[in-house]
Amino acid sequence: MSVLQAVRGTRDLLPPETALWNHIDATARRVFERYSFGEIRTPILEETQLFARGVGEETDIVSKEMYTFTPEPGQSLTMRPENTAGVVRAYIEHQLGETGQLQKLYYIGPQFRRERPQKGRYRQFFQIGAEVIGPPSAGSESPLRDAEVLEMLATLLSELGISGWKLLLNSVGSATDRPRYVQTLRAALEPVVSSMCEDCQRRAVTNPLRVLDCKHAEDQPIIAKLPRIWDSLDEGSKEHFATVCAALDACGVPYEHDHRLVRGLDYYTRTTFEFVSGDLGAQNALLGGGRYDGLSEALGGPRAPGIGFAIGEDRLVLSLQARNKQASQLAAAYIAPLGDRMNPAALVLARELRALGLRVELGDGSFRLKKSFETGNKLAYSIVILGEDEAASGILTVKHFASAEQFKVSRAELGQKLSALLNSNN
Ligand code: HAM
Repeated sequence: MSVLQAVRGTRDLLPPETALWNHIDATARRVFERYSFGEIRTPILEETQLFARGVGEETDIVSKEMYTFTPEPGQSLTMRPENTAGVVRAYIEHQLGETGQLQKLYYIGPQFRRERPQKGRYRQFFQIGAEVIGPPSAGSESPLRDAEVLEMLATLLSELGISGWKLLLNSVGSATDRPRYVQTLRAALEPVVSSMCEDCQRRAVTNPLRVLDCKHAEDQPIIAKLPRIWDSLDEGSKEHFATVCAALDACGVPYEHDHRLVRGLDYYTRTTFEFVSGDLGAQNALLGGGRYDGLSEALGGPRAPGIGFAIGEDRLVLSLQARNKQASQLAAAYIAPLGDRMNPAALVLARELRALGLRVELGDGSFRLKKSFETGNKLAYSIVILGEDEAASGILTVKHFASAEQFKVSRAELGQKLSALLNSNN
């Protein structure tokens, strides 16, 4: 019988890597809370129409990457390829605009796209995202919201220990600017597109903006000469963009104006951005986002401008691993009972230390001391020896592996001492 494996493009996450994922989740939640975001959890399954109308029929995502099925005649469901459309659907469905306040919502969860799998690109991947959305009277269109979201991202990346990122920033203009630019672009592409790559030839017909994403070296000189979206923007969009930039300058968040950053989803208006990272290879976008002032209305809701982002958590993990900043996988202590008879006492000691919040590995009394030291050295920062003498006197022998320091400590002070050693390692 053939052995079953995880579906292509999906994968199991195992310890110790899952500890890193949990560390990232916890850091993101902590940072989001400081900016007054609350968590939203929307279903993985949505009506297919949501993405067709929200993300756009002509986008790569909707036209060829969605997992769509028909559970019963007349019903079409899709496993969410992204979460912004779902959040805006929930905003409309629960009339969150009625509060008159900005809604600041974050989410962490799996998304599904039938893309060609490669490093950093999966068919089930995880996003950590956030959206700020609300009625215009709540200030949802303000460029300050854009700047605050970008500053929050810079803070989150710094707290995660990710440096060396580049923030690419652009404006794709208002709902009327964009079609105007697409028209200009179509006209400019017409005489040159036949000498471009196959993808560009297809995109020039279906979705000309995607031509700007082309990575083919031979096409670059042609693309460099195409008209820029900036020249199709109205004054309001240009001013909005300039105000976002000024606010970023004021708080010292560096960025680069990338005229080609149009992003692959149709709902964007005005600000678009990506954070790219050098240690990710071809799939170098750590996160992406932007403003979507017309999305709520496109889904049949009230006017509710918004801005948000989604971080590719799989890529964040790759980036942290590449930097060797893996959250420590070692326990604070490995408890080595001397002889089987000490096993119950060792379990009690482990329980005491774990109650103090320490991570503890419990050895086994059948191990010889040499084996305990070898195992302890692999699993923990320190080893604690528990023999009959130690149990009777309450004075334990500890060896800290990194410093090779060996000392005796009273049971009452053991937890404190192990915590101090842990901090000196991190
Ligand atoms: P997106 O650019 O399609 O935007 O995805 C955001 C991030 O998700 C990407 O930058 C990347 O890190 C990660 N990602 C996308 N596809 C994959 C994949 N196949 N494998 C691994 N990671 C992937 C959105 O999804 C928008 N909803 C973002 C947004 C929120 N805009 C406004 N609010």
